[in-house]
Amino acid sequence: MRILFLSPTGRYGGAEASLLDVVDSLRSLEPTWTLRVIAASEGAFVDRLRGLGIEVDVLPFPNVLARVGEREAALWRLGLGLGRAAFATVRYRLALARAIAAFAPDVIHSNGLKMHVLAAWASTRPLVWHLHDYLDGRRVTAALLQWNQRRCARVVANSGSVASDAVRALGGGTPVVTIWNAVDLARFSPCGERLDLDAAAGLPPVSPGTLRVGLVASLGRWKGHTTFLRALALVRHDRPDLDVRGYVVGDAVYDTAGSQYSIEELRALSEALGLRDRVGFTGFASRPDAVFRGLDVVVHASTAPEPFGLVIAEAMACGRALVVSAAGGAAELVTPGVDAVVHAPADAIELASQLVRLAENGELRGRLGQAARQTAERSFDRARLGPEFASLYSAVVEASR
Ligand code: GLC
Repeated sequence: MRILFLSPTGRYGGAEASLLDVVDSLRSLEPTWTLRVIAASEGAFVDRLRGLGIEVDVLPFPNVLARVGEREAALWRLGLGLGRAAFATVRYRLALARAIAAFAPDVIHSNGLKMHVLAAWASTRPLVWHLHDYLDGRRVTAALLQWNQRRCARVVANSGSVASDAVRALGGGTPVVTIWNAVDLARFSPCGERLDLDAAAGLPPVSPGTLRVGLVASLGRWKGHTTFLRALALVRHDRPDLDVRGYVVGDAVYDTAGSQYSIEELRALSEALGLRDRVGFTGFASRPDAVFRGLDVVVHASTAPEPFGLVIAEAMACGRALVVSAAGGAAELVTPGVDAVVHAPADAIELASQLVRLAENGELRGRLGQAARQTAERSFDRARLGPEFASLYSAVVEASR
């Protein structure tokens, strides 16, 4: 079987981490299959694939196309962007069509909204759309996918919540299946190297007994950096007796204009909140597992429903105490009070009170962390991805004959 994966970026974000796990797990299961990836830019994701010995072609998106994005854009701005990108998109589609034809895949697996549409336009091979995001609120993208869904054999959603959203947006025209993401449980484990987060952030070491609390995310505006910083300021104000240091781990990953914070912007906010020296900014960390092990508490703070939340699964596998913003797919992953605690999206006050609770109670942190690892072993072992996707591809190929 020949599988072609299409990624709208070569950089490393959640959707790319998920795809990497699919590719790796498939390769161990079916070593004779030929897997190839086309990515629309160079970056850490492409480097990692190559490091695994996977063939990758980089077919760069023209700038105008890379910059169009719907999540934060006003409709008129989006219209303008699409208008500007139209000619370049037609040319890109031709180049993609040639690359697909040259590989002659049995199945195409596209991994991002732009690639879902382009794949539908560029080829008639059996196509699987792997949805990592909601279509709700993306009217133009949803319409494009709806018009092109005849070309798609199966939609894979990364959570039940994303699956329901896809069924609503696509009108049930294409079968939608849910396949939760998974992680490498050997790499994401409670034992192993811990990153020195203070050194990474250029801060002096903390005093012993300080609670290390971290938000590990891209700098997308909906990832809740401001909620996190505000919660830390509240903890500092209400409980000056508790020693807590926060860490913002991550970098900007998307090209889409206006959709993410810059580290400078977040630094300025943390200064304004009086958090100088109480929050460190590490930038991109190439070993998230070592980051999680360096933290006592991991915070997930997305202000909008999180489609899945790979960091949640990763932090759980590392046996960390975790505070989750309970909405969307993220809410499916945890059992509140058992393997994580939760707060409502964008509620800095509730997040602060959960942080105080965890700071005061090491026994609770230990119990949550242990239960989290058990949940990860039960639900997030990536060894299941190979068999799940292999049978999906076989069914799609069978149906196309
Ligand atoms: C996207 C989603 C995130 C998910 C990841 C992998 O980045 O926003 O919630 O974990 O894809 O599916």
